[in-house]
Amino acid sequence: MTPDGNSVEAPVLPKTVTAETVVDVRHWTDELFSFRLTRPASFRFRSGEFVMLGLMGEGKPLLRAYSIASPSWDDGLDFFSIKVPDGPLTSRLQHIKEGDTILLGKKPTGTLVLDALKPGKRLYMLSTGTGIAPFASLIREPDAYEKFDQIILTHTCRHVVDLGYGRQLVDSVEQDPLVGELVGGKLTYYATTTREDFPTKGRITDLIENGRIFADLGIAPLNPEEDRVMICGSMAMLQDTKSIVEDLGFEEGSNAKPGDFVVEKAFVD
Ligand code: A2P
Repeated sequence: MTPDGNSVEAPVLPKTVTAETVVDVRHWTDELFSFRLTRPASFRFRSGEFVMLGLMGEGKPLLRAYSIASPSWDDGLDFFSIKVPDGPLTSRLQHIKEGDTILLGKKPTGTLVLDALKPGKRLYMLSTGTGIAPFASLIREPDAYEKFDQIILTHTCRHVVDLGYGRQLVDSVEQDPLVGELVGGKLTYYATTTREDFPTKGRITDLIENGRIFADLGIAPLNPEEDRVMICGSMAMLQDTKSIVEDLGFEEGSNAKPGDFVVEKAFVD
C-alpha cells in the first residue's frame, strides 16, 4: 500500500523462474565478473549444464542463458559473465550486489555433460573467455575423475589478466576438502593468451594443429580411440575446434547418443 492507500502491484513472477538472492559478487577485470546465488532446494542439474537467468525488465523478465559454474553437489549456484557496456542484460547485471534479487529459470539443460560422452582415457575441456564456466562446474564433479584418468582443462584469453578466474579456480579445486583428493594428479591446467606475452601463446586451435600442446604436456596427440573432448567458447572458436576434431575422426555426442566430443556456445549478450 502507498501512503494514500492505493495498492502497489508487485511485478508478477513468471512460473518459469524463481527469485534468488545474490550472496557474493567478484569483479575480475573491467570486463569479467562472477557471482553466486542461493539455490532453491528443488533446483536439480547436471554439472556442465546451463540455465536462463536475468533481471526483471520493463514488465517482463530479461533472461539470458548462463552456464552454471558450480558443481551439482554445491549448495549455491555460481556464474561467470562478461560485461557488455550496451548489452541489454549485462549492462545492468554487472552492477548487482549482495542481497539483490536475480531471476533463475527452473529448467537447466545442455550438452556439455559427462553422460553425452563415451568412456575414454583423457578428457579435454577446451575453453576460451567465459567458456570456462561449465568446466568450473565439471572439474569439481567427482564422476569426471572416476570416468577419466586425466582431465586437461585449457583456457585461452586475449590477456593474462583474463586468466585470473580460471587460475584461482584450479588452485581452489586442488585444495577443496571434498574433491581435492580425487583431483590428485589427474587435473592438468593449460592456459594460453593470444594478445599478450605469456609462456604459452596462441589460439588453442593452432596449438592443437601444430602439436605444441601435446609436446608441452608430454602426451600423445588427440585421437578418438582414447580421448574425449568438450568445447566451449565463441561461435567461431566452436566451429574451428569442431572441424579439427571431426577431421581427426571424433564423432559428436548428445544426451540421446553419447559420442567422442560435445560443444556448447559460451552465451553472451
Ligand atoms: P584472438 O585474440 O586471436 O582473437 P574473444 O574475447 O574474442 O571471445 O576471444 C577469446 C579468445 O578466443 C581469444 O584469445 C581469441 O584469440 C580466441 N579465439 C577467437 N576466435 C577463435 C577461433 N576461431 N578459434 C580459436 N580461438 C579463437
